[in-house]
Amino acid sequence: MADPNVVFQQCINPDCAATYDLGQTLYACTRCGQLLDIRYDWARLAVPKKLSDFQARWASRGNPLDRSGVWRFRELLPFFGSADPVTIGEGQTTLQQADELAAFIGVKPGRLFLQYEGFNPSGSFKDNGMAAAFTHARMFGARQVACASTGNTSASLALYAARCGMRAWVFIGAGRIAFGKLSQALEYGAKTLQIDGDFDACMARVQEATKRLGLYLVNSVNPFRLEGQKAIMYRVLESLSWQTPDWIVVPGGNLGNSSAFGKAFLELKNLGLIDRIPRIAIINAAGANTLYRLVEQEGLRWNGGRVDAAKIDAFFARMKAENRKASTIASAIEINVPVNLRKALRALDASNGLVREVPDEAIRDAKAAVGKFGYGCEPASAASVAGLRRLLAEGVISPGERVVCILTGHLLKDPTATVDYHVKMDRELSNKPIAVADDIEAIVAAISGSEAPNSEFGIRNSE
Ligand code: F0G
Repeated sequence: MADPNVVFQQCINPDCAATYDLGQTLYACTRCGQLLDIRYDWARLAVPKKLSDFQARWASRGNPLDRSGVWRFRELLPFFGSADPVTIGEGQTTLQQADELAAFIGVKPGRLFLQYEGFNPSGSFKDNGMAAAFTHARMFGARQVACASTGNTSASLALYAARCGMRAWVFIGAGRIAFGKLSQALEYGAKTLQIDGDFDACMARVQEATKRLGLYLVNSVNPFRLEGQKAIMYRVLESLSWQTPDWIVVPGGNLGNSSAFGKAFLELKNLGLIDRIPRIAIINAAGANTLYRLVEQEGLRWNGGRVDAAKIDAFFARMKAENRKASTIASAIEINVPVNLRKALRALDASNGLVREVPDEAIRDAKAAVGKFGYGCEPASAASVAGLRRLLAEGVISPGERVVCILTGHLLKDPTATVDYHVKMDRELSNKPIAVADDIEAIVAAISGSEAPNSEFGIRNSE
């Protein structure tokens, strides 16, 4: 095992800062109850002198660790010591330069990029985190793993558990998760508990059950999971030839991603591997907007780790009194009690970031636009593009800035949302199927009557 003086867990509360060794499977500080970080004494670890050194690993893709989009950067999450990291090929994702979408939403050519995490083995960014969490679980002999989920965590957990020979328990709100995701959990053999409640209820129950039964919890309160998700930012930088973009725009649900991104950039900056941190814009769905309200309306800040706990408590007390429940088409981020709230505040502070909310209609339209230009994502992911549209309209982001939107999950995760938009709704980009008789003349008439596509854009790498 790694030397506990070099790699350890630490409470994020600066007034507590309790430390724990890696073998302690904890999801909160036992002294003050706040979140834990994985911390490294970098001076005693071998870290590459420059980020471009990682590129050498493209030449040895026969080695599964070099092929993994997480473990290719293993010196930046070196908690595994001499253990074998778990990998099933996560992180083979690409950063797409999306000029057509850019033109559509008013960004200059060459300035908008989509980080397409739907290419992961289970179809979402969660696999980055699971590779790290399962590595830790296996290091300490876990046999049963558990999570609460709006769908993607459960799909990813189920897949990794199947490959690692562990029993998986997933807690989902009955009727709350998209069928693509539910089908994955069932097919990969996870035991699925459909709880009569929403995600926030499932999250509370799974934490209680984990404590009682000694299950290994892989929700993003698990600090090892967030270590894996840092790699999404390493790959973004790699795709931009190690240049820092101006903005990272990311949907916010339980706030694991934004927290991990903030930690990744803070560490890189402290290591002298980057000279500035991009601004992080976290986008809430308007129907699940706790972070937006707390930060943008109530002025909650990280404040050097001394967060105004009374403000948070009062906010949640009001939410409870009003019986306010999260509700949005973006079911993946239908979360009102984000567990990583404080770490997300830290990420916002480190990156001079901000939070916006977007209504469901804007999410649906942004999703259709992402799909129309040949990418595709699930509703929660499109919140990033809807958020970018809003920030452009506000003049906060200018058309010439370099922006990366994170597309967190695959289009096929939620076919119901997609089909409803095109078949049942009359929106700007609805693409209704055309009903035609089984008759060649009628078919020819239907085809002849439709407009030819605009050929101004196209794939340029074949020219
Ligand atoms: N996008 C997708 C597709 C997600 O599945 C999630 C979270 C998010 C964005 C939000 O990310 O929690 O890091 O802020 N899904 C979790 C789940 C909650 O259970 O699958 P976050």
